Amino acid sequence: MDKNILVETANKMMMRPKGILAMDESSPTIAKRLASIKVDNNEDNRRRYRELIVTAPNLSDYISGAILFEETFDQKMNDGTLFRDYLASIGILPGIKVDKGAKDLSCHPNEKITEGLDGLRDRLAAYYENGAKFCKWRAVITIANDIPSDACIESNMNALARYASLCQENNLVPIVEPEVLINGTHSIDECDKVTRKSLSSLFSHLKMFNVYLPGTVLKPSMVISGQENDSRASYEEVASKTIACLRDFVPDDTAGIAFLSGGQTDLEAESHLNIMNQSSDLPWRVTFSYARAIQAAALAAWQGKDENLESSQSILIERAQRCSNSSVGKL
Ligand code: G3H
Repeated sequence: MDKNILVETANKMMMRPKGILAMDESSPTIAKRLASIKVDNNEDNRRRYRELIVTAPNLSDYISGAILFEETFDQKMNDGTLFRDYLASIGILPGIKVDKGAKDLSCHPNEKITEGLDGLRDRLAAYYENGAKFCKWRAVITIANDIPSDACIESNMNALARYASLCQENNLVPIVEPEVLINGTHSIDECDKVTRKSLSSLFSHLKMFNVYLPGTVLKPSMVISGQENDSRASYEEVASKTIACLRDFVPDDTAGIAFLSGGQTDLEAESHLNIMNQSSDLPWRVTFSYARAIQAAALAAWQGKDENLESSQSILIERAQRCSNSSVGKL
């Protein structure tokens, strides 16, 4: 592990006023996204869509790094350039999602465990060799009756720590993503309780596995009411409870925090982040690593048609710019 390399990469990822673009939809997720605009889910259409994203004019003014799915990491653009090389050429760090997805947790109905540790060391060495600078691993925690269980939280946080230490051994900055899902009728206080328990477990596992925090980026969900809750908390309450929770569990020397959007509307995702960044004394950089809150409107405008490419790209850039402004509290 070279700590200087890790810190240099993490600092670039956290550069103001930028954030990280998540464009690493797994095979089932990109299938859903393309189905939503009635476009066939084939390799060429996945390339066309992702090429639209990375060639959006001036993307690097707002985006410091892009998380790719393994297919995209090894894929060529229409002119034969590898996506990863193109991103590096425009000043965007290429990263890669390395988990193998959230699978059913044995003997724990409705809970998931993220898989992908077997063989990870060799995969990481190859990704670094091929230009990846950082990685992502997503753990999923569901709130419902009697869940999450301790087994779900502890096993997922343990896997995140093992993944993170393997990344650092290969000079790749790990993005550790413990996502408490927004789905459900739970209150913001229930979300707060589960997020606290998850972050407490995560940082004790990271410590146990000697993970170097100045070379680690946390990608959390916000402390927020469930999507089906009838009286959802205000923007101000989400922002203040999220920051209070992070202050209690995230050590000051962590490289930074980049939120997922997790099914929030575009307006919610940008407003929450903007309010958080209006407090002047945060110990870490707090920015975004959104997929849907940057891409959704552009995807809908594209409809798989070349004639919509430019208008779709300008919508994408407008979303990236608004998220960038909110990452410095200037929306
Ligand atoms: O793992 C989740 C993605 O990287 C973030 O996606 O912003 O749509 O929740 P999202």
